[in-house]
Amino acid sequence: MATVADLLRDAVARLRDAGSESPRLDAEVLLANVLGIDRSGLVAHPEAPVGEGQFARFSEAIERRAAGEPVAYLRGVKEFLGLAFATDERALIPRPETERVVQIAEADVARRLVSEPRPAGAPPIRIADVGTGSGAVAVSLAVRLRVRRMLDEVDILAIDDDPGALDLARENAVGHAVADHLRFAEADLLPLSEAPFDLVLANLPYIATSAIADLPAPVLFEPRHALDGGEDGLDVIGRLVAILPEVLTQRGLAVLEIGADQEEGIGRLVAALPGRWSCTVERDLAGLPRTARIER
Ligand SMILES: C[S@@+](CC[C@H](N)C(=O)[O-])C[C@H]1O[C@@H](n2cnc3c(N)ncnc32)[C@H](O)[C@@H]1O
Repeated sequence: MATVADLLRDAVARLRDAGSESPRLDAEVLLANVLGIDRSGLVAHPEAPVGEGQFARFSEAIERRAAGEPVAYLRGVKEFLGLAFATDERALIPRPETERVVQIAEADVARRLVSEPRPAGAPPIRIADVGTGSGAVAVSLAVRLRVRRMLDEVDILAIDDDPGALDLARENAVGHAVADHLRFAEADLLPLSEAPFDLVLANLPYIATSAIADLPAPVLFEPRHALDGGEDGLDVIGRLVAILPEVLTQRGLAVLEIGADQEEGIGRLVAALPGRWSCTVERDLAGLPRTARIER
């Protein structure tokens, strides 16, 4: 019977030949997933025998990985803000850059609750997560606000125009026990009948159509609709920015993830809004423009 060490040796060679940039890491993560153990267990017991069924499942995963499929789809899970999100081809795999959108939203909710006295019976803080995908933003925000005992003070609406993505978001909300605290809507951008919102959060598609073909192979397994932002990548974001005067409360805040080359573009879109608006763009850990804060 093949051992852990045998399987890893062969899989690393297979993935290296297929051009993987992280063959050992990928092989270890996938084998640990098939065996239902931590990666440290592989290191501790390289001599452990692997059963036929697990061998077959691992071989299939390695072949799919060699064909470019993302590890997160093969494992069916991806971490976001320390929470495990179910992932599959219905939605984009949550990215670490997007965690900042949630952190800014959480701080904004806390500021509103702490710095502004709220009379008993005050309406909840209204939050929209536009293009929720797997639900990473809406669900993790709800989980973090629950920890801070602030969840009852907010009303979070998670929106996507793709019903498959919304189903996955609902599953993740159930998985994190916040489904009773979230509402879901299938709509283009957001249902105007639900406006106004105090917070509009969005990680919408922002890749220029012409750049899609050059994306790394694993990204091409993700839904094109979640990536393609039109000619300059700002088609969908631009439509959302254009309705902000209509959908944000007077003291509302929009937090939008953007592409690294879109700082000027988003600034132009905000400058074209009627009235006085400000747009500040935060850089991510790589020093790239990433998160736009837009408010009156
Ligand atoms: C980049 S993905 C982000 C998913 C998730 N928010 C995240 O950060 O992982 C963009 C999402 O926006 C959705 N989307 C694209 N165009 C949309 C539109 N016009 N209205 C609503 N949702 C849209 C896509 O279906 C996709 O789920």
